[in-house]
Amino acid sequence: MVNLKVNLSGLELDNPIIPASGTFGYGYEFAEFYDINCLGTFSFKGTTREPRFGNPTPRIAECPAGMINSVGLQNPGVEKVISEELKKLKPCFNKKVIANVGGFSLDEYSETCAMLDKEEQVGLLEVNISCPNVHNGGMSFGTDPKMAAEVTRRVKEVTTKPVYIKLSPNVTDIVAIAKACEDAGADGISMINTLLGMRIDLRTKKPVIANKMGGFSGSAILPVALRMVYQVYENVNIPIIGMGGITTVSDVIEMMLAGATAVQVGAANLVNPFACKEIIEKLPEEMAKYGINNLSDIIGGAH
Ligand code: FUM
Repeated sequence: MVNLKVNLSGLELDNPIIPASGTFGYGYEFAEFYDINCLGTFSFKGTTREPRFGNPTPRIAECPAGMINSVGLQNPGVEKVISEELKKLKPCFNKKVIANVGGFSLDEYSETCAMLDKEEQVGLLEVNISCPNVHNGGMSFGTDPKMAAEVTRRVKEVTTKPVYIKLSPNVTDIVAIAKACEDAGADGISMINTLLGMRIDLRTKKPVIANKMGGFSGSAILPVALRMVYQVYENVNIPIIGMGGITTVSDVIEMMLAGATAVQVGAANLVNPFACKEIIEKLPEEMAKYGINNLSDIIGGAH
């Protein structure tokens, strides 16, 4: 009998598979397709203090082996997420959830996190300082180690649950940002968010995406994500949730060998809503193939 359990700063997961924020709504939408209790947990849509309509359309561009999105943190705002979305989730999910939080100021990050920290079903806060699709917020906090540390400190002051900071790959030195977050008290790191990209429509000769650029995700970015997780693992002593291009069960093993304690699956959910369930079902056979009995034993095994 293989053991799939992993532990994120005290939050024990039955398995390491986590649908990534922005690709799984608030969970109950996917409960129409399958019993989502098979998941380790999931990270809900990036939530801000105020409701957000999001960016103008088109927001999506297809690419070989991936896609670009520029959703712009569309969400109903933290009050409605608590009063409506989490209420709808409760009857279909009996595990703790990851609350993904976006923001435009230190006060906003701190207030939104403080509110979600009080929610019983929230097991971990994932602070998104890496959204490439909004101005004066998101990624602007995640590209400077001092700002990343300041967000971390402010959120840690008002929370009791584990705080993981979600990092951007659109930086020169991701290790410096990860270390700044660790030094400021982060309990863990989530990485990587999307790579800033664009496409141009040959007929109009203009960018496909209304916001011109967006976040590139999908299997094409897996090698970049693996490289960054590997580098950060060598330099920090807090757990990493690895993501970026995870599509198959072997990608999961690879990401854990690079140093991830758990793994988020993003764009793959948009192609196949059963992607996470299928990966979980295939894990025992894949582990047997490589003689792995205890999945958590392989974390960082490539170092
Ligand atoms: O535009 C978006 O809502 C995406 C957010 C993110 O990539 O963090």
